[in-house]
Amino acid sequence: MELVETGIEGLDPLIGGGFIKGRTYLVAGETGTCKTLFALNYILHGAVRGESGVYLLVDEDYESFVEGALAFGWDLNPLIKQGKLSIMTILPDFIERVRSKSVDTIVESIVGSLRDEVKRIHATRLVIDPIAPLVVEGESVVKMREYVRNLVVSIERDLKTTALVTSEIPTGTAQLSRFGVEEFLAAGVFVLGLKNVGGRNVRTIWIRKMRWRPAEPAVYQFDVTPGKGIVVYGSKRLG
Ligand SMILES: Nc1ncnc2c1ncn2[C@@H]1O[C@H](COP(=O)(O)OP(=O)(O)OP(=O)(O)O)[C@@H](O)[C@H]1O
Ligand SMILES: [Mg+2]
Repeated sequence: MELVETGIEGLDPLIGGGFIKGRTYLVAGETGTCKTLFALNYILHGAVRGESGVYLLVDEDYESFVEGALAFGWDLNPLIKQGKLSIMTILPDFIERVRSKSVDTIVESIVGSLRDEVKRIHATRLVIDPIAPLVVEGESVVKMREYVRNLVVSIERDLKTTALVTSEIPTGTAQLSRFGVEEFLAAGVFVLGLKNVGGRNVRTIWIRKMRWRPAEPAVYQFDVTPGKGIVVYGSKRLG
């Protein structure tokens, strides 16, 4: 089984070394729980080692994303110029163009654009942040689920990248993802959150599922260090 390191400090040893190549992983969490930092950390770890990555940015525009990353201590521009990283955004007219189109048409349109970019930079890593995007706002849950399912299947079949997708958990619910289908499609699921420990909020990562990997379903504490990224403390187990 070929593995892909996440590169997130402290995490790989907890999941048996990394992700299974070519599969899709889910990072879920309420708003502000570091899903985007996690995803970018994963892509950058590959990019600096010659495993190029495509990052499909759904909820934010290109400039504010690149600026935000720089403020965090991550300069994306050199990697973009060297063709090791590509940040793609959803064009504003895309949502209008695909409204009322079939799920297959929408998915083929997205995967087609991703395919071109994956080929151009020979990407082996992919992020979609978040997977259930504006594209389908106002659509029925049934159609959304079909969309998420088709998208994951097409990515694994056509792009063969090791993919990480994010999904926002509605605040205060016990769901694992926004549409309740993402976790079943993913080979592994991480749930990010906050927990009150001794009167202080600490960041938590719950390794909820890791198909075929020797990983315990445990909750650990993590920190965010500007310029470095996410640091998971395997010794600070909270559950
Ligand atoms: N420069 C920084 N220094 C320290 N911490 C930072 C910095 N930038 C962001 N953070 C922390 O990361 C958190 C947000 O992380 P991130 O954007 O990855 O969350 P998210 O889960 O993707 O949120 P959303 O649901 O809004 O997309 C912030 O709330 C902040 O606590
Ligand atoms: Mg985010």
